[in-house]
Amino acid sequence: MGNIVIFTDDPGWHGKQLRLAFAGQGYHSHTVSLTECQFRIGCEQQPLLIPGFADALPDAAFVRGVPGGSLEEVVLYLDILHALKIMGIPVYNDGHAVERSVDKGMTSFLLHNAGLPTPLTWVLRDRDEALRIAGQELAAGHLLISKPLFGSQGEGIRRIEKTTDLFWLTSSRGVYYLQRFVTCAGDGFSDYRVFVINGRAVAAMRRRGKSWLNNVARGARCECVDLTAGLADLAINATAALAMDYAGVDIIQDRAGRYIIIEVNSIPAWKGLESVCDVNIAQLLAEDLINRRINRQ
Ligand SMILES: Nc1ncnc2c1ncn2[C@@H]1O[C@H](COP(=O)(O)OP(=O)(O)O)[C@@H](O)[C@H]1O
Ligand SMILES: [Mg+2]
Repeated sequence: MGNIVIFTDDPGWHGKQLRLAFAGQGYHSHTVSLTECQFRIGCEQQPLLIPGFADALPDAAFVRGVPGGSLEEVVLYLDILHALKIMGIPVYNDGHAVERSVDKGMTSFLLHNAGLPTPLTWVLRDRDEALRIAGQELAAGHLLISKPLFGSQGEGIRRIEKTTDLFWLTSSRGVYYLQRFVTCAGDGFSDYRVFVINGRAVAAMRRRGKSWLNNVARGARCECVDLTAGLADLAINATAALAMDYAGVDIIQDRAGRYIIIEVNSIPAWKGLESVCDVNIAQLLAEDLINRRINRQ
């Protein structure tokens, strides 16, 4: 029987779904926090110590969470993912994919570089320049969003609506990430979350926010939507641009009807999605990892 490590600090519902799905495919899985792993380079044993895998490394690693921390701590966690991959162990999504998507600036750059629609975005250090850009955007009649470079679940995202809002314009640890606000089509506030696995869009939902922040963690309501070809293609291309095995892609439809990619998540949750879609995401992920990454190495 094979063994899979699920990296997470909060096994919860998703961890349980994954463990069940892996068991259904004949694999044992253990949840481990990346904070508990270590390098022991030059010792007699393998150079990577993962609790529960002291004798033999796992057949694959599923990354369900990378904890925050100091730059050194986060680099160590990513190094563990990189090292596993270098040692030939499939890492799903791998450390580079996680790095690219956790960094909202790099995500925006890669989407744009691949010719995909994403909002106008500025990422910079200089406060005066950030204020100048924000002032210029407001004067031109646009609203702006300010985001922490490494945020998730809507944390720390602010909307700049008027010049007095510029007083509290704060950087995220010295870096400003400013993005033009996209007013969504239809009534109220909504965006789409499309789940892509191995180049296939497997499910989609509309998230209706209580305000312009449409994260499920912020109380957005989930609604089932049909996966149109336009939405599916965009999500698939975004996932490919960030070279991910699977992703949760956030897409807004603007007032002119255009789909615009906001974010590509390399560690997306799927509890909200499954509450409105008849799909077993954990099973699809487990099958993809085992069939495509373990069995065909
Ligand atoms: N440029 C934007 N225009 C309009 N709404 C946005 C924009 N950027 C983010 N949002 C809203 O904020 C939510 C969270 O932003 P996102 O970039 O996905 O960060 P997070 O990682 O916190 O989910 C989006 O789902 C969307 O509802
Ligand atoms: Mg998001």
